[in-house]
Amino acid sequence: MTTRHQISVTVNGVNYQREVDARLTLADFVRHDLSLGGTHVGCEHGVCGACTILVNGASMRSCLMLAVQADGAELTTVEGLSRNGELHPVQQAFIDRHGLQCGFCTPGFLISTAELLQGNPNPSDDEIADALGGHLCRCTGYQSILESVQLAAQMMREGTIVDAASPAEA
Ligand code: FES
Ligand code: FES
Repeated sequence: MTTRHQISVTVNGVNYQREVDARLTLADFVRHDLSLGGTHVGCEHGVCGACTILVNGASMRSCLMLAVQADGAELTTVEGLSRNGELHPVQQAFIDRHGLQCGFCTPGFLISTAELLQGNPNPSDDEIADALGGHLCRCTGYQSILESVQLAAQMMREGTIVDAASPAEA
């Protein structure tokens, strides 16, 4: 038996009101109820990082959070990083430095990188490794990802800045 609850969340600047099962994870909510499939689900127990999204500006494993726990929150998924058809510098940098191959892990890396660079615009390699240490990639190689993050930081310092934690214009 399960119970259903009414929730209201703002995702990438758009407000949604939905009735959800109490046991529904936030990852399944954004993927299936909101059709935002950019958030990927790998391990479903908090290890791989593929499901990472921003909840009120802080990165969270959406497979470890229930949709009802996000009631009233502002969420940013990977779909919310770009603005007006322009890629976020982090997205562009991952393309330019070959920070992805299959792309399964990439949404989580992009979200955590955007969060890192908002708080630390000039991170060292060690700080990047520390911030992204909870993400697993099985095909690209972490050196390319690290170089992507450094390029993204450079691009954002040079002024191509998008505030990933702020709501997009609807
Ligand atoms: S699916 Fe959430 S951490 Fe792996
Ligand atoms: S790009 Fe394939 S798992 Fe990371």
